[in-house]
Parts: sequence; structure tokens; C-alpha cells
Amino acid sequence: MDATSTKRVTVLISGTGSNLRALLAHTAAGVDYEITSVISDRATAKGLGFAQERNIPTAVVSPKAHTNRTQWNQALLAEIEQTRPDWIVTAGFMRILGPDVIRKFPLRIVNVHPSLLPSFPGVHAPRQALEAGVRVTGCTVHLVDEGVDTGPILAQASVPILAQDNERDLHTRIQAVEHQLLPETLQQLATRHFAPFPWIPSPTTTSTL
Ligand code: GAR
Repeated sequence: MDATSTKRVTVLISGTGSNLRALLAHTAAGVDYEITSVISDRATAKGLGFAQERNIPTAVVSPKAHTNRTQWNQALLAEIEQTRPDWIVTAGFMRILGPDVIRKFPLRIVNVHPSLLPSFPGVHAPRQALEAGVRVTGCTVHLVDEGVDTGPILAQASVPILAQDNERDLHTRIQAVEHQLLPETLQQLATRHFAPFPWIPSPTTTSTL
């Protein structure tokens, strides 16, 4: 990865794409990364429209078009490789990446998750937080490893749970925080690599200091 140039970011989405929109808003304000491609597993993902409005190349790699999960992962990996990313961001990408994808891009895939991991991994994290009765939850930006939401944590922010919260209200407030935390974290990765995250073990830590 070139330490000086604007970093190429490929974003993976499945649905609304509000985090993608937040990233795009930050790039408009001037950051050291560029959203160069958006890939979805669903042709109907609303977020694809945000990219197309800005003439950012998009692609759809649907599991339905492949006979099994392994084939789908291989097609996804091929599509990601074509985009030549410095960083990959899974922003509301509601599928588990296969080991081939993760091993091809070690410590290069960033995920945003709507809880304070390691609490409430997987799907419906805001619902899990409400059901558990915790009074504070939040969001996490972390690197993706081969587990489900288990990779090294880069950044977290808390969100209080209010007495009247339902799942939707709570998730909306968490997303508002995600929309700040994800772009800020990506900017830190783009400019200073892992320097702001000294707890992340990486052989490249010193190369961009
Ligand atoms: C976000 O809140 C993200 O944290 C969550 O899906 C939402 C997608 O919103 N991801 C997960 O729950 C992954 N386990 P968006 O499509 O509007 O960015």
C-alpha cells in the first residue's frame, strides 16, 4: 500500500446504505480516502443508488446467481480484487465473508457493527441489547477476521438506552453515531495506518509512521 496517495476503498453493502452515504459525505468534505467501488449482494440495495449518483462503479454479486456459498465467495473475491482496494469496508453487508476473501485481505477489511462488541455480535444487535436490559450500548468499528464480529476493535462509541426505546429508535440513534465513527476511523487508517491503534498487531505498523 502506497503510504502517500489517496486510499482506494471498496464498500460492501446489502441495504439502505446510510453508512455508505456518510462515507461519501465525508469524502466530499476532503479526506485521504476515496470510495472507488461499491459492491452489493442484492440488486435492490438502496445504497447502490448513492454510488451511481456519483458515478462510482457498482457491482452486484448475488448468492442467488451461484450454486453454492463457495462459488459465491469466489465470485465476490474476484469482483473485489478487480477494484484494487487499499481498504474494504463492510457497511451493513449482511453476509459472512468466506475465509478466501478474508485471507486475501488480512487486516484490510473494516466492519461497522451496532453494538459494543464483544457484546451482541451477529444480527439484530439493537434488539439483543434491549432484550438483555443493558442501559448503554453503542457501535464498534473493527477489523474482520474469520469469526463473526470477533476481529480486532479499532474504535467504539456508546449510546444510552432510553426508557421508551424500541428497536428501531435505538438502531436509528446508534446509526447516527456510526455515521461519524466509521468515516473518522477510516480517515485514521488512510492517513496513519495502524498508528492510532497501537493495540492492533501488524507487520506494517511502522511502515507509514
Ligand atoms: C448498520 O447499523 C450496521 O452497523 C449494521 O447494519 C446497519 C446497516 O445500515 N450492521 C450489522 O448489523 C452487521 N452485523 P446502513 O445500510 O444504513 O449502513
